[in-house]
Amino acid sequence: MSTTANLGLEGVVAFETEIAEPDKEGSALRYRGVDIEELAGSVPFEQVWGLVVNESLERELPLPGPECRPVSRTGDARADLQATLPTLAPAWGIEQLVDIDADQAREDLARLSSATLSIVAQALRGDRPDVPHSEVTRGRTAAEQFLIRWRGEADEKQAKALDVYWVSAAEHGMNASTFTARIAASTGADCAAALASAVGTLSGPLHGGAPARVLPMLDAVAEVGDPDKYVADLLARGERIMGFGHRVYRAEDPRARVLKRTARELGSPRVDVAEGLERAAIAALREKYPDRPLETNVEFWGAVVLELAEVPAAITPALFACARTAGWSAHIVEQKLTGRLIRPSAVYTGPAERPLDSLR
Ligand code: COA
Repeated sequence: MSTTANLGLEGVVAFETEIAEPDKEGSALRYRGVDIEELAGSVPFEQVWGLVVNESLERELPLPGPECRPVSRTGDARADLQATLPTLAPAWGIEQLVDIDADQAREDLARLSSATLSIVAQALRGDRPDVPHSEVTRGRTAAEQFLIRWRGEADEKQAKALDVYWVSAAEHGMNASTFTARIAASTGADCAAALASAVGTLSGPLHGGAPARVLPMLDAVAEVGDPDKYVADLLARGERIMGFGHRVYRAEDPRARVLKRTARELGSPRVDVAEGLERAAIAALREKYPDRPLETNVEFWGAVVLELAEVPAAITPALFACARTAGWSAHIVEQKLTGRLIRPSAVYTGPAERPLDSLR
């Protein structure tokens, strides 16, 4: 019997989940059944974390205490987070998933997710002296405390922008980093190791989290002053319009809608240019690919919102990791409850059996 490999695993259903799965045709994303449109801007990230992980707004993410420090400050906050998380298991006596129950796993994950916010903020602060914890606790929400720990102060608008970004990026079904977290969890590893594995996976630019390419495009459109011409020239050169199209959604990415609303509400000076480009891009893409819906994705309006929070594009992966602790944690618990080791197969396509001597 011949077997062929499904190289990207597209369409392979490997899990059942009660957490979230994007509604591809309907352009909706719901966490435990609740639409992100309802959550973003009205429920703070820490409670959304509780909804995603514990199915309860009350069992929210505890705000970080003063105790946790990054083991390194390399200038790459994502790398510092990935290095620090595994060290917390021996330091805090976190046991392997195989030896604990789901409630203990939830507790460990809450502590580690909370630590993630603190580690990233401190790593972003670099060599500057730490902000005293008494200052940090002046912030009312996780986003405000994060900004104070990072920059010493939290502007209300910036905190709101960060909070909505975190809420919209908290969970997105079976993406690559979540898959990684589940694989690690399926071996019975401790929660810190499972989270660290996921952090490594999201560092790749193909995971998303690359709004770096969107802002230069908006600059160029503002300069040219004619979005239709800009888009036509770009497509004529065979280039892609950044922030449009999605592997999963066949309609508008619902996260783009939420982030666009936020950009407008918070008064981003980019909104007019961005809307002009969005209109021109969608029209041109519809004309060029009438059978292939290519709509706005999360990167486009995510870039505009993160700019409002004065987040440099290069550090988006670290901020993305803070948000996605919710989805990863929920999936780690769900995987633990299945008790099943993930172990797919491969088709061997290497050399036929041969003696060692044939290589000498
Ligand atoms: N601009 C111009 N053309 C695009 C396009 C875009 N943003 N997105 C897709 N297309 C075109 C492709 O060139 C391809 O055309 P072809 O058949 O003539 O080669 C066709 O649409 C199908 O594209 P495909 O790569 O199969 O779609 P996909 O579902 O695999 O890709 C993305 C999804 C996100 C990788 C893709 O839409 C893209 O590259 N977008 C721009 C980058 C981006 O925004 N990334 C962030 C994603 S969250």
